Amino acid sequence: RRVLFRSMSVDPKVGWPTFQHAPLVARSAPLGTVARPLPLIVDSDPGLDDALAIAAAVARPELNLLAVTSVGGNADVHHCTENALRLLQLYGASDVPVAEGAVGPLSGPLERATEVHGEGGLGKTVLPPAQRRPDPEGAVALMARLIAASPEPVAVAPIGPLTNIALLIRSYPHLASKISHLCLMGGSVGEGNSSASAEFNIFADPVAAEIVFLSGISITMIGLDVTHHAWVDRSILPRLAALPGRSAKVAAELLTYSFERSAGWGQGERMAIHDLVAVLHLAIPDLVGVARYYIEVDATSGPARGRTIGDAWKHRLVRDGRVPNADVGLTIDRERFADLLVDTYAKLP
Ligand code: RIB
Ligand code: CA
Repeated sequence: RRVLFRSMSVDPKVGWPTFQHAPLVARSAPLGTVARPLPLIVDSDPGLDDALAIAAAVARPELNLLAVTSVGGNADVHHCTENALRLLQLYGASDVPVAEGAVGPLSGPLERATEVHGEGGLGKTVLPPAQRRPDPEGAVALMARLIAASPEPVAVAPIGPLTNIALLIRSYPHLASKISHLCLMGGSVGEGNSSASAEFNIFADPVAAEIVFLSGISITMIGLDVTHHAWVDRSILPRLAALPGRSAKVAAELLTYSFERSAGWGQGERMAIHDLVAVLHLAIPDLVGVARYYIEVDATSGPARGRTIGDAWKHRLVRDGRVPNADVGLTIDRERFADLLVDTYAKLP
């Protein structure tokens, strides 16, 4: 495996690195296979990229999607719940239960990303109303019931703020051992997006994120470090247009909306499909390269609020008695990622 940073030997031309890259290592996350699909719950704030991540959770034969739970984030939670129901209906997966979760963070201000995703969460796209209604028990109770009832531990892919996950951990501590892995989209060991310090999902509820990273549950942090390399541009549109299903047409609509928004911010007509990376990591063995970090969350109210501080320097970790608590995504094959997106939608109606 390519070692990103060999040692403290300093090349006088390069100078002394202050950003400690860590070597890529074998993944901790479980891997679904066609022979043994991975039981999975997606906790989401749909959301443009969430919509594509949920598509993969439905379509990939390596995954067994048990439920989609909603959390307020990209849009108000009732929009996110309705979007989850309508997306599953579009994907031919109305049998997958949906339940509504937290409106906002455990503490602190309510953060939304409607400037990115539109007021309703899916840009200008309006999907047919869902025939089904959400399960009245609510997100945390539904997750707990499914995890408890599962004959094997269940993986959870949180791809929005971590409020529901923190509530699950605090309300049902005995179920932590039946959560096989948290493959979360969030954070960054580099810069943020909501602020220079913080990525949106963590920024929206840093207290919840702190509870999650201190929980001891096996975690992969799919942060901006890897998702900013998981982008597509307009070249994906003809590939989706060539597919027969309505789902692919909707994906093209969502992507086009995002391309236009990002162009308006001077970022070019492309979209990083953050959440899709987290779900694909559980189905594709060697798409994402990971390294081990000790991640701690700044839950204070200063300018670094919501920052996921990543330490991989063995000297400091040993000195302070800290053990890495997460795989952090660092590398991805972008061309293959785009191919997997098209392959996913080729499987959907
Ligand atoms: O920062 C990206 C994350 O924030 C993604 O989950 C996106 O859907 C938004 O929720
Ligand atoms: Ca999301």
